[in-house]
Amino acid sequence: MYSLLLSDWDFQYLVPIALGWYRDKALLNNDRQIAISERLVHSALSSLSGGEFLSELSTQIAGLKLRNPTMLPSGFLGVSGETLRRVVESGAGAVVTKSASLKPREGNPGPTIVEVPCGLLNAIGLASPGISMMKNEISEAKKSGAPVIASVFGFSVTDYTSSTRIAESLGADAVELNVSCPHVSGLAEIGQDPKIAAKVTRSVKRAVDIPVLVKLSPNVESIVKIGLSVETAGADAVTAINTLRGMSIDIHVRLPVLSARIGGLPGQAIKPVAVRCVYELAEKLKIPIIGVGGIAGWEDAVEFFLAGASAVQIGTAILQGDLGVFSEVTEGLSMYVKENGFTHVSELVSLAHSRSS
Ligand SMILES: Cc1cc2nc3c(=O)[nH]c(=O)nc-3n(C[C@H](O)[C@H](O)[C@H](O)COP(=O)(O)O)c2cc1C
Repeated sequence: MYSLLLSDWDFQYLVPIALGWYRDKALLNNDRQIAISERLVHSALSSLSGGEFLSELSTQIAGLKLRNPTMLPSGFLGVSGETLRRVVESGAGAVVTKSASLKPREGNPGPTIVEVPCGLLNAIGLASPGISMMKNEISEAKKSGAPVIASVFGFSVTDYTSSTRIAESLGADAVELNVSCPHVSGLAEIGQDPKIAAKVTRSVKRAVDIPVLVKLSPNVESIVKIGLSVETAGADAVTAINTLRGMSIDIHVRLPVLSARIGGLPGQAIKPVAVRCVYELAEKLKIPIIGVGGIAGWEDAVEFFLAGASAVQIGTAILQGDLGVFSEVTEGLSMYVKENGFTHVSELVSLAHSRSS
């Protein structure tokens, strides 16, 4: 009943206000009592609101409501709706599908992946059945109750607008424009040119009503320039970062290992680059930033929030461990928020900027 009267955000702020009042009145006089009361108030309000959006982690980003600020990034397990659902059941707050093109497209011939220290260098080449074939995947994933974000890519403005229209008609809650894959020629260039990236973003925004996220590349002279141009063009949020251009050479055959020669490097090796990109973007952009690159534990996630991210995506860590990483990260984040005297994870966003000179 109360959920009809109060918004999710009212609920989110009710707990701290109630606890603050009790604390002021000295009715709760030690940390243990406060923690127990907090859990009781949380679970009571949680059941009233249908069990969602009622924690220190519930997040609203680009109009999407997430029960916690973790997401599956594009390219990981996003091939079937059932798997996407399992990712949500394992604790993710939202999922992004594998990037899809307007028409079916073959990827690169093998080898497309090579394990290198700290990451999986890959040049899959964005194989796609075509966005229209993703109806089942999207509708099945939506049964999880979490937002489903369709990732799309293309080689022209029309490719992007048409794919996004189809994604919207299939029920996607938002779209993430992949303009940043480092091993597909014709695509990387879109995300490297602020004018073209803005043109794509603007026409997609005009074509659909769902939120538009733009995934940025670290392989550029200034990620801030690209970020600002897509923000001006109407992007609702940016995701940073896609993989870094990398190469591995087989010393026995004396040739590059990947058939495409150059691939994209994800994983822990790129975390400092991703944190730097998020930090620089947060200095100039007003729209939310979703941080991704090398997150393998809650401490990494905290670092991204402090740099300026409002949500995080976790990819390679799933392959190197398992889906348990989502609950590990959310539990760790929740503990960090409470133990450091915050009431909500959003209070961490950009805190690392305040002490900068
Ligand atoms: C095998 C593989 C496939 C990927 N496919 C996509 C994709 O289809 N679209 C996309 O935008 N990013 C793709 N990415 C990039 C990831 O979404 C993410 O930006 C990157 O892996 C960094 O995050 P991580 O270190 O947590 O893995 C892919 C990465 C890998 C390793």
